[in-house]
Amino acid sequence: MPQPSIVILTGAGLSAESGLATFRDKGGIWSKYDYRDVATPQGFAKNPKLVHEFYNMRRRDHAAVKPNAAHLALARLEREHAGNVVIVTQNIDALHEAAGSKNLIHMHGELLKALCQHCGSTHAWTEDLSLFTQCPRCGSDGGMRPDVVWFGERPYHMGEIGKALSACDLFVSIGTSGHVYPAAGFVAEASAYGAHTVELNLEPSEGASYFAECIHGPATEVVPSFVERLLGGT
Ligand code: APR
Repeated sequence: MPQPSIVILTGAGLSAESGLATFRDKGGIWSKYDYRDVATPQGFAKNPKLVHEFYNMRRRDHAAVKPNAAHLALARLEREHAGNVVIVTQNIDALHEAAGSKNLIHMHGELLKALCQHCGSTHAWTEDLSLFTQCPRCGSDGGMRPDVVWFGERPYHMGEIGKALSACDLFVSIGTSGHVYPAAGFVAEASAYGAHTVELNLEPSEGASYFAECIHGPATEVVPSFVERLLGGT
């Protein structure tokens, strides 16, 4: 009997207890910035300095944070579950990697990567970016941007994600408001293929009614206990 394959979708709520702000909670990032100014290609074209400052600040904040018990529990699940476990994250932080997760898809890109708009190359990047940053490959400046997917841009790896959703037995959504598509539509896609669907979130998300099962509470509590249950513990 093949072991169930699991797809896990994660959002900003997973990293909240590591000290990274979410977007739509009270005091969240979109209560401080207009996403059109800092997370769209139009915003970048209009004021690249503001956009670079926005991501430079988030890159600096990232250096001080650590994965939390929820990230670690998901890495344990990948190690100990006999079937396939893949994490599709909307998060651009590198906390899943730091916790030890390997089978990971960053559908909204990565804060610690930079992309050259002139030659299309991408590079691991932990320092600040600016208009004067030169591309390590083509040498031109003025074209380096964070390798993150902005509103209006196509998320990465959608083919791979679609394949995983069509083949999974269990779909778990953790720490996401279910506000932004295409990620918010994954639960309907997975359940159409017959997967059992579970939401683990601080409070009911906008998509809560689509899930067969909802467990609400902080990720550092509900995720480790859910993983324990999946691995045949309590
Ligand atoms: N534990 C579990 N869930 C939490 C916690 C916590 N400690 N803290 C907050 N949450 C939940 C909130 O209840 C909310 O439902 O996490 C969710 C965060 O929602 P958003 O701030 O909308 O973040 P997310 O869903 O990841 O946003 C999706 O929107 O702005 C874009 O590209 C950005 O990837 C992001 C996408």
